[in-house]
Amino acid sequence: MSPARSTDGPRSDQTPIHVAIIMDGNGRWAKARGLPRFEGHRRGVEALRRAVRSAIEHDVRYLTIYSFSSENWRRPPDEVAVLMGLLKRFIRNDLADLHKNAVRVRVIGERESLAPDIRVLLEEAEAITRENRGLSLIVAFNYGARHEIVAAARRLAMEARDGRIDPDSIDEESFASRLDTADIPDPDLIIRTSGEMRLSNFLLWQAAYAELVFMPILWPDFDEAAFVAALEQYAARERRFGAVIKPTAVMTAS
Ligand code: FPP
Repeated sequence: MSPARSTDGPRSDQTPIHVAIIMDGNGRWAKARGLPRFEGHRRGVEALRRAVRSAIEHDVRYLTIYSFSSENWRRPPDEVAVLMGLLKRFIRNDLADLHKNAVRVRVIGERESLAPDIRVLLEEAEAITRENRGLSLIVAFNYGARHEIVAAARRLAMEARDGRIDPDSIDEESFASRLDTADIPDPDLIIRTSGEMRLSNFLLWQAAYAELVFMPILWPDFDEAAFVAALEQYAARERRFGAVIKPTAVMTAS
């Protein structure tokens, strides 16, 4: 991994502050090669490592990855077990490297229904990296946007019932502050791989103004070139008039 970047340095308006990724296509990647689905997920973790490296290289400050959705429990139990195992291995194997690179790990999603050992690992990853000021890596695990939104509404309703807030004072800001992403800026760019064109219950509130980039590449093949291609699409959309500055050029200048 390249040296850590602080979140305080200069940056270009052309570079998204927050990139979120729906990592899709592991199963199709494996199927195309006559391999079991879990091999696609395993190679997906390698693509995830490349994405983290690319985000640091290109001065992205927040990277959210959709690792396990609340709907993924409907998959066959052995596939669910593989995904749980990969998360554990990712945290155990990569945490030291992430920490060394000043990455702050954060987790969004519903934790209560996760196995205790996974909860402990996620909490440790957050605690160990809490003071880091480089890339924030937000792991959406057992995450579903509708669930998150309902939970925020419930929190506000309970606070109003208990007289702690005035219902008339509820606005977008107070609502957003009850979401899992409370102190995280909204994503500027959401990438989905594998050619599917939907959000699949990912960051529905936060995606209100995000640029969406759908790429045909299957997730295990995702590399720095694909990351740069997505950043370039974003930059082109941001600048309707005038030249597009390549994020790589920005990186060299900063
Ligand atoms: C979608 O591929 C991907 C997922 C359901 C999970 C994403 C998981 C990884 C990239 C690896 C695990 C990483 C961690 C940190 C847990 P799919 O299986 O839906 O692919 P398909 O649509 O082609 O079948």
